[in-house]
Amino acid sequence: MMERFTNQVAVVTGATSGIGAACARKFAEEGASVILVGRSLERGQALEQEIKSSGRQAVFYPCDISDADSVKKLSDKIGHDFGRVNVLFNNAGVMLPSMEIERMPIQEWQDTFAININGLFYVTRFLKPYLLESRGCIINNASIAGLQHYAAGRSYAYSASKAAVIQFSHQMAKNYGEEGIRVNCICPGIIDTPILGDRDRKLYAQRIPLGYVGQPEDVAKVVAFLASDDASYLTGVVLPVDGGASI
Ligand SMILES: NC(=O)c1ccc[n+]([C@@H]2O[C@H](COP(=O)([O-])OP(=O)(O)OC[C@H]3O[C@@H](n4cnc5c(N)ncnc54)[C@H](OP(=O)(O)O)[C@@H]3O)[C@@H](O)[C@H]2O)c1
Repeated sequence: MMERFTNQVAVVTGATSGIGAACARKFAEEGASVILVGRSLERGQALEQEIKSSGRQAVFYPCDISDADSVKKLSDKIGHDFGRVNVLFNNAGVMLPSMEIERMPIQEWQDTFAININGLFYVTRFLKPYLLESRGCIINNASIAGLQHYAAGRSYAYSASKAAVIQFSHQMAKNYGEEGIRVNCICPGIIDTPILGDRDRKLYAQRIPLGYVGQPEDVAKVVAFLASDDASYLTGVVLPVDGGASI
C-alpha cells in the first residue's frame, strides 16, 4: 500500500457519508490524520471509530458548514488541536428535490446555495491560513451538473450552485498558485451514494459509456491522486469522474 499522506493532516467535509467517507478512509489508509466534518453525530463517530480501529488516525468534528460562526469555531479547534492542514477536500453538499421553478420552495434554493457554495467558501476562508503555511492543496467537489444539464433536467439550484463551485475553483487556482496552494475541482457523474435517494441506478447505467454507476471509491482514488505529490504540477483542473457520462 502506497502511503502518500504520512504526517499530513487532511480535512474532509461531508465525511459522514458517501464520497466523503470513502475519501476519508483512503486518506487515512495512506497515512494521513483525517479530520472528519459533518452534521450527523452518529455517522461521524462511527467512522472515527472504524478508522481508529484499523490502526489509522481520524477525529470527528461536528459542524454545519452553512453557519459561518460554526466554521470559524471549527477552524479554531483545528488550529488548536493540529496547528496545520495539508489537504482540504471541500466535499459536503446537498441535492434537494428538484422541480419547476414556479413551484420550487424559496427555502430549497436558499439551502442549496447556503451549503453547496456559501459553506464551501466559509471552510476555505477560515482554513486558508493553515493551507498557506503548509503550501497545501484544495480539492473542491462540484458535479457534471455544474458543467451541463446531463444529470437532472430541473436541478436549477443544484446545477447553478455547482457551476459556482467550478468558477470559484478557477479563481482560487489562478490566484493561489504563487502562494503555493494547488486548487483542483472534480465533477463526479452518477455515483452510488445516499444523495441519489431511490433513483433507478440501472437507468443511469445505460447512459454511461463505461456501463455502470460509479462507487464512492472510484472518486476517492482520483481525489487522493489530486491531493498527492503525483499531481504536483496540476492546478485549476476541472476533472469529470463520471465513466464518460459527460461526453
Ligand atoms: N453521488 C453523486 O452522484 C454525486 C455526483 C456529483 C457530485 N456529487 C457531490 O458529491 C458530494 C458528496 O455527495 P455524496 O454523493 O457523497 O452524498 P451523501 O452521501 O448524501 O453525502 C453528503 C455529505 O455532505 C454532508 N453535508 C450536507 N450538508 C452539510 C452541512 N450543512 N454541513 C456539513 N456537512 C454537510 C453530509 O453530512 P451530514 O448529513 O452528516 O451533515 C454528507 O456527509 C456532494 O457535494 C455532491 O453534490 C455527488
